[in-house]
Amino acid sequence: MPAINLSHVTKRFGRFVAVSDLNLEIENNAFITLLGPSGCGKTTTLRMIAGLETPTEGRITIGDQVVFDADQGINLPPNKRDVGFLFQNYALWPHMTVYQNIAFGLENLKWDKKRIEERVRELLKMLRIEPFEKRYPSELSGGQQQRVAIARTLAPGPKVLFMDEPLSNLDAKLRMEMRTELKRLHRDTDSTFVYVTHDQLEAMTLSTRVCIMENGLLQQYDPPLVMYASPANRFVADFMGNPTMNFIEGTAKVSGGTAELSFGSLRGVFETDHPFTLRSDKVVVGVRPEHIHIGVPGGRQATIYSTLPSGMETTVRLNVDGTQLTSVVFGDVDYPVDSQVSFAFSRTAILFDPEDGGRNAAQGTVRLL
Ligand SMILES: Nc1ncnc2c1ncn2[C@@H]1O[C@H](COP(=O)(O)OP(=O)(O)O)[C@@H](O)[C@H]1O
Ligand SMILES: [Mg+2]
Repeated sequence: MPAINLSHVTKRFGRFVAVSDLNLEIENNAFITLLGPSGCGKTTTLRMIAGLETPTEGRITIGDQVVFDADQGINLPPNKRDVGFLFQNYALWPHMTVYQNIAFGLENLKWDKKRIEERVRELLKMLRIEPFEKRYPSELSGGQQQRVAIARTLAPGPKVLFMDEPLSNLDAKLRMEMRTELKRLHRDTDSTFVYVTHDQLEAMTLSTRVCIMENGLLQQYDPPLVMYASPANRFVADFMGNPTMNFIEGTAKVSGGTAELSFGSLRGVFETDHPFTLRSDKVVVGVRPEHIHIGVPGGRQATIYSTLPSGMETTVRLNVDGTQLTSVVFGDVDYPVDSQVSFAFSRTAILFDPEDGGRNAAQGTVRLL
């Protein structure tokens, strides 16, 4: 049985549609991220599952319980849904110690003293905040406070844990550290995590599955690496990955699983296993930066436009007769600006159909001519 199921869930604010006909099945123990640009409906979706926002239409189940059904008039309040929340502003109680902050909710739930003590100890250990149990929030760093907030949320053992951009107030280094902790924490609990972020890297690295939205509409729901390798459309391809995919406009003469391409200043032959079609002869060719290899014998010639070496990798901008391509080369390599290099597309290229919402029409290989 899935942990959470959304069926035809829509949310309108007046005439504005914030979430449109969303169907989503979240498996038990999953770590799901709701991803997309600001305003796409992530928070609204999370709040509807949690019971903080009432959908206009649809049905939501958590476990075997129907928590919302517009037709049957069912709408359980948040405290009846066995869920926990962690929001961006995780206010700890300033007059309580770390221990008391974590224990407080359990006291309210009338747990007995011994069981509370055991549970708090377990959480202090799990979140590595044992040394701070007697401190007050003001005596903790931002990251430590965040961990206390997580411990407090996890204390009653909620079936589902909701998190809305919980790391966005932390600095970059701490955010990285907390990502590692969250992923570990997910493994160590039996909870299903539903996580909101606008950060594609966070979604990529944390989740078992990503739900990517645009303007209230679900674009794709897949494991992160599937989404990266096989984006449903140009929007998803563009949103996932940094540096972003190269998109080169052109024309295609399609015949079965083969197409003659003329794109930017390039020409090539595209091949794939399955026959496919495009709505017109227009095409957008998508190539990931790491799939453009530099220094390939017999490759096409390009001029180095600029380089951004970072030690671990170098982002290289190539100029091919006016068409700019971004390539990523691993290692501490560098190239003189304006020097000539040869390059080739080493792996998958994607043909997007611009006349059909940028749909991923075919994935295959491109041999440059
Ligand atoms: N209470 C509200 N009244 C009117 N519009 C709202 C309300 N809450 C959210 N919206 C609108 O719904 C859209 C989605 O909002 P939200 O779910 O918060 O986006 P996200 O979390 O993806 O940034 C936005 O355009 C927002 O302005
Ligand atoms: Mg939001």
